Amino acid sequence: RDRRVAVRAEGWVNPGVRKNEDKVVDSVLVPELSKPLTAYCRCWRSGTFPLCDGSHVKHNKATGDNVGPLLLKKGK
Ligand code: FES
Repeated sequence: RDRRVAVRAEGWVNPGVRKNEDKVVDSVLVPELSKPLTAYCRCWRSGTFPLCDGSHVKHNKATGDNVGPLLLKKGK
């Protein structure tokens, strides 16, 4: 394992998934949803967990990480 990666990964929630992207966001379409969009936190920093409150932005800036929410969108 590359030592430099291990050092850079300190404080990261995401150690290796799609690190070439500024922010890893994924979307899932769910026909049964009542709301058009719900964002679920994947950084474990949200004050409204399990919902995303945007705290990933501060976390990413502070650590160099690239986590983002899981979006549930109404649709099929
Ligand atoms: Fe955690 Fe947005 S606050 S992903």
